[in-house]
Amino acid sequence: MLQLDFRRYLVDIDSVTTHQQSTDYLVIGAGVGGLRAAIEASQHGSVTVVTKGTVEDSNTWHAQGGIASVLEKTDKFESHIADTMRTGGGLSDEKTVDLVVRQGPGLIRQLLDWGCAFDMVNGNIATTIEGGHSHPRIAHAHGDETGRIIAQTLIAKARQQRNITIIENFFSIDLLTTDNKCLGVIGWHKEKDARIIWALNTILATGGAGQLYRETTNPSCATADGLAIAYRAGAILQDLEFIQFHPTTLYIAGASRALITETLRGEGAVLRDTKGRAFMKDYNPAAELAPRDIVSRAILTQMLKTKSTHVYLDIRHFDKQHFTKRFPVISELCDSFDIDISKDLIPVRPSAHYMVGGVKTDIAAKTNIENLYACGEVTSTGLHGANRLGSNSLLEGLVFGRIAGQTPAAPKTAGFGQSTIKFQIPHSELRHLDTSDVRNSLRAIMWRNVGITRKSPEMRQAIDQIRFWQRYVMDKAFDSPAGWELQNMLTVCLLIAQSALARKESRGVHFRSDFPNTDDEHYKKHSEIKR
Ligand code: FUM
Repeated sequence: MLQLDFRRYLVDIDSVTTHQQSTDYLVIGAGVGGLRAAIEASQHGSVTVVTKGTVEDSNTWHAQGGIASVLEKTDKFESHIADTMRTGGGLSDEKTVDLVVRQGPGLIRQLLDWGCAFDMVNGNIATTIEGGHSHPRIAHAHGDETGRIIAQTLIAKARQQRNITIIENFFSIDLLTTDNKCLGVIGWHKEKDARIIWALNTILATGGAGQLYRETTNPSCATADGLAIAYRAGAILQDLEFIQFHPTTLYIAGASRALITETLRGEGAVLRDTKGRAFMKDYNPAAELAPRDIVSRAILTQMLKTKSTHVYLDIRHFDKQHFTKRFPVISELCDSFDIDISKDLIPVRPSAHYMVGGVKTDIAAKTNIENLYACGEVTSTGLHGANRLGSNSLLEGLVFGRIAGQTPAAPKTAGFGQSTIKFQIPHSELRHLDTSDVRNSLRAIMWRNVGITRKSPEMRQAIDQIRFWQRYVMDKAFDSPAGWELQNMLTVCLLIAQSALARKESRGVHFRSDFPNTDDEHYKKHSEIKR
């Protein structure tokens, strides 16, 4: 296990004088995992959900394709389990996969009962297919607005529960711990400044990390904060080298990247290079339906071969009326760039999409820190292994969100909410760097040197550069989210680069051009990092 050292807390703490409140369950994050956990926990006690933006700011909200589950009579649990295990490249945990797959249909039907408007056909939930799945099992809602519809259902359900309080614009700076026991969080509220929330159980559900990369499908909130605060608190982080790159992000120079759902390929879209050639069959017999890592690398190779910045997605053969109804978000996106899908090709290239590794949790959503649970993208539960099967993430959030919220709150001791934590940061003599400049440069070097294909000299260069920035940034005491986010990003980028350097093989989404083969003898195992 790699061990690295950083300062324990990012800010000065005096728990006696700081404004404070307490709750039975504290949920950090309001994506599918966090909200599902909150709804479950509200049956057992008081719940406080904090989120750094609004409840709409989550990766869940932006998910397009759907949620995978065995919903058709002709499909089988064994088939979904086999597809997940195969995609996981030898690192998925069969017990976890079995649990998630089997709980899926019930939890999706429960969402339907709660008003989630899944697309239906003949009274049943409609399904489609995506790369890596051997059966149509992707449920979707409002076409390509699945994430938004699921999130809105969960938000409405959570708001109906009298003992759930949702606090928006609350930046969780650090988890408070003593003797490997989580006591809650110290955070900062836009209007109310610093405050401590003491909690019997804390559930970390902060989502992803796509913003660590210059090119990403993720919204601006996905800055790896949960991984960083868990790391500083002493949690074990697992498999951080596994970052999934989505093959098709709209590429228009100067515009921010936007996801073009994989279900388009599931429904017949063809990838063409800039010379107009459909190239996927050169790389894999499954062509457009190969798993994401294969498609992303194929696109990258083809971009190099054709000396281009992108490839194209061809949906000119789609029925335009059907397309507009089935994919309203992408249809609007194309319209906004004056792309007429019946005539024009859509320029795309891969970008960082999903953090496969994360805080190590067990089958009960427990971390190695007492009273700290985690669910959703911030975790490494063993479901995804070295690569995530498309649309398994909303499912994982739903299943482990419920499990995390099911756990009875730790018993309330006499001193609950009265711990004395004092921490003071020494004054830094080193100069301040321009935080937004470092942030942009960090994202650029991660994209170039720790991206889709990796090799040792580039990763070492990234590590040296990140360490250099860390000297000037990690010793400062910031007083607003931009600074803390940068400290979190620098922390997690270093951990990712070191994990990637240490895995001297290629497996799942981790591809090293200097070690292109899978080495089961030495590396068929998880990597772990702890502070
Ligand atoms: O392509 C997509 O719609 C993405 C789905 C996912 O990440 O699971």
